[in-house]
Amino acid sequence: MSYKVVLLPGDGIGLEVTNAAVRVMKTVAESFNFELEFKTELIGGCSYDKYQSPLTDETLQSCYDSDAVFLGAVGGTKWESLQHNLKPEAALLKLRKALGLYTNIRPAKIYNALIDSSTLKKEVLQGTDFVVLRELTGGIYFGNPRGFDNERGWNTMEYSKEEVERIARMAFKLARGRRKKVTSVDKANVLEVSQFWRNIVHEVHKDFPDVELNDMYVDNTAMQIVRNPKQFDVILTSNLFGDILSDIAGMITGSLGMLPSASIGSKYSLYEPVHGSAPDIAGTGKANPLAAISSAAMMFNYSFQMQKAAEVIESAIERTLAKGFRTADIFSDGCKLVSTEKMTDAVIENFNEIFHEQALGVFTL
Ligand code: IPM
Ligand code: MN
Repeated sequence: MSYKVVLLPGDGIGLEVTNAAVRVMKTVAESFNFELEFKTELIGGCSYDKYQSPLTDETLQSCYDSDAVFLGAVGGTKWESLQHNLKPEAALLKLRKALGLYTNIRPAKIYNALIDSSTLKKEVLQGTDFVVLRELTGGIYFGNPRGFDNERGWNTMEYSKEEVERIARMAFKLARGRRKKVTSVDKANVLEVSQFWRNIVHEVHKDFPDVELNDMYVDNTAMQIVRNPKQFDVILTSNLFGDILSDIAGMITGSLGMLPSASIGSKYSLYEPVHGSAPDIAGTGKANPLAAISSAAMMFNYSFQMQKAAEVIESAIERTLAKGFRTADIFSDGCKLVSTEKMTDAVIENFNEIFHEQALGVFTL
């Protein structure tokens, strides 16, 4: 068995964390006995610098020819003043649209060893395990008309029936494999597009009577995630609301440096850490590679149906944290402060350890 993985390291710490994830992917391939074929392409600011375009047709074509795409991060202060469609961020949006990646899965899971590095109280956090399911190719990010002149600026928040139906179906299916609860988040008390969203979600729900559905306004949800995050299982929401809520969700888990994501469509899939390119620490070895490594775990799970491999990676991350390894963003007293590379070494070592324990039937966390 062989899979083609396109690597888009991008800008800033995107390079370091992609390297880390690739080292783990190679370890997995060796242990589970399959081939990974890597191809690296430019995206974002580095692509603009070379080709005056943040996403070239060549990069896009490589993605179309792939079994999965892995992205590091894009952007940086250097490219901030570029025209809108030339910015590194525009590349990411174009890529999501071109590959039809309408489902964005962002899990908010608490690692026990990190419970003290969150700004929230331990009692509030313990047992938190939910997923933000964000619609990724529609809504105000892509609606027309859009623009601004000297007097006004405008965007359009729009959803078609088909767009809401397919993401709602994904949410109910995902919930079926979890605690069977979907919270659909909108702003139906103010926005027509949200009332429409809500109506369609309830229509789709008729096919999933075993899953509980409730509606929540987005402002209330932001508050509830901080007040009592345990109440959530699957949060289903639109593009803009999901962007905001997933950052809040990231912070309750301790650091955005821990949060992985998967973006999935009917043909293609892309995996990326939720964090950005952090140009201030790029190249210093301070970046936390765990979100990228955890995104690789999602790749094995969703693109290659290798749930076992994904589980061993996740267990390796947990054990590495339990042994006290910390990058600067999650450091606390009494722990071992390590670089991106040393953290990756530790994850790989623990991966191998767990893999062998499992083979011998003696695995415990
Ligand atoms: C994210 C990012 C992107 C978004 C930006 C970089 C375009 O914030 O993936 O959450 O807004 O979707
Ligand atoms: Mn975001």
